[in-house]
Amino acid sequence: MSNFKTISPEELQKNPFHLIGKEWMLIAASKGDKTNAMTASWGGVGIMWNKPVAYIAIRQTRYTKEFVDASDKLSLNFFGENFRKELAYFGKVSGRDEDKIAKTGMKVSVNDDAPVFDDAETVLVCRKLFAQRYDENSFVDKSLLDTYYGKESQHTFYIVEIEKVLVK
Ligand SMILES: Cc1cc2nc3c(=O)[nH]c(=O)nc-3n(C[C@H](O)[C@H](O)[C@H](O)COP(=O)(O)O)c2cc1C
Repeated sequence: MSNFKTISPEELQKNPFHLIGKEWMLIAASKGDKTNAMTASWGGVGIMWNKPVAYIAIRQTRYTKEFVDASDKLSLNFFGENFRKELAYFGKVSGRDEDKIAKTGMKVSVNDDAPVFDDAETVLVCRKLFAQRYDENSFVDKSLLDTYYGKESQHTFYIVEIEKVLVK
């Protein structure tokens, strides 16, 4: 188990545009005794239903989606510039084909029922609040459909409550 300290979401110093868009994150969730994770760079943080929340979008085809759908809890793990190679791997290979966590040798601990990467610098421990598959009819800018969903599967949009922020 890593040496994290817990801070409140308001105390988070990092810019979320940089954190999510540039550093990327590992979305991790567990199903039974198995854990899987995938890299993501789309999402956000904010306030919804008077709660601190994060938003993520996961395509139907991702193995991680099965884990996220099976559990109430998940974690968003940020590593700074470290582990870029590992994050590229987690974003290219599917957990259906390889045990990505075992292959990278990265250690995962359980924190409040969510899998947390020991090597992360910042972790958002989250609880699912809302999940909805994007509906074609809801796109105001229809060009997004061609650009992002021509051949690829649709996303499901998740809003998750940030229950805990862990930092090193
Ligand atoms: C930088 C980067 C960002 C990504 N962002 C997302 C994302 O936001 N949502 C998504 O569904 N897939 C995203 N992916 C693709 C998944 O990480 C990739 O398909 C992964 O292999 C899925 O693994 P899994 O099948 O084990 O879940 C991203 C990949 C990379 C490299």
